[in-house]
Amino acid sequence: MSRSIGLNANVTAYVRGANRAEPSVLERCRLETDAMGDIARMQISPEQGAFLQMCARLVSAKTAVEVGVFTGYSALATMLAMRDMHGPEARLFGCDISEPYTDKARGYWDEAGIADQIDLRLGDARDTLTNLVSEIGGTVDMVFIDADKTGYDDYYEAGLKLVRSGGLILFDNVLWSGSVADPAKRATDPDAEALAVLAAKVRDDDRVDMAFTTLGDGILMAMRR
Ligand SMILES: C[S@@+](CC[C@H](N)C(=O)[O-])C[C@H]1O[C@@H](n2cnc3c(N)ncnc32)[C@H](O)[C@@H]1O
Repeated sequence: MSRSIGLNANVTAYVRGANRAEPSVLERCRLETDAMGDIARMQISPEQGAFLQMCARLVSAKTAVEVGVFTGYSALATMLAMRDMHGPEARLFGCDISEPYTDKARGYWDEAGIADQIDLRLGDARDTLTNLVSEIGGTVDMVFIDADKTGYDDYYEAGLKLVRSGGLILFDNVLWSGSVADPAKRATDPDAEALAVLAAKVRDDDRVDMAFTTLGDGILMAMRR
């Protein structure tokens, strides 16, 4: 089960109770993914789902891109908020390399009645994003990046070409369980090093306004100026 770094089970349960309950299809996606074992740690937590929904509302997202779909929880959470605001015009482009994981995602999206609003593209996200920049560059409201960590810098550069001015780019796992703050781990873990280098780049990047938040395993937010 995903939970925020530093929060024990009791406080995590309190936070979950203080948020609104997930729609049943989201809950089922989370519980059935939990049952897959250790790999379920890849899934965002319900409070991160609520946060993504609020971010989508804050930028009135009608078009979103997600890099790293897995079993579909974050895309479904985002899409539910977008559909609530924009109805059938809302659309989300999902990037992933895994057919087995995303087959599960499609099942939940079907159940929620939003499958036809999600354009899932299988293949390396670098290629998919290059294509998306040609197709919808400059028009995207929100990009959520949650795939291979050494790819984040490429996804950031593509994300900056995708989003409109005022559009939001979100990166998950920027704390990497705290490893980013440990020089020894940064020296031996390419993911920790890539995430720390990216965070410093975004901090110093005058193309965006930014906030580094500690929700979940850390969510870095960058808004294109
Ligand atoms: C952390 S999981 C995403 C979790 C998802 N956002 C959720 O909340 O359930 C990362 C996903 O990125 C995908 N992935 C890894 N490398 C990729 C790449 N180069 N291009 C596209 N997807 C990739 C994996 O197949 C996996 O499904």
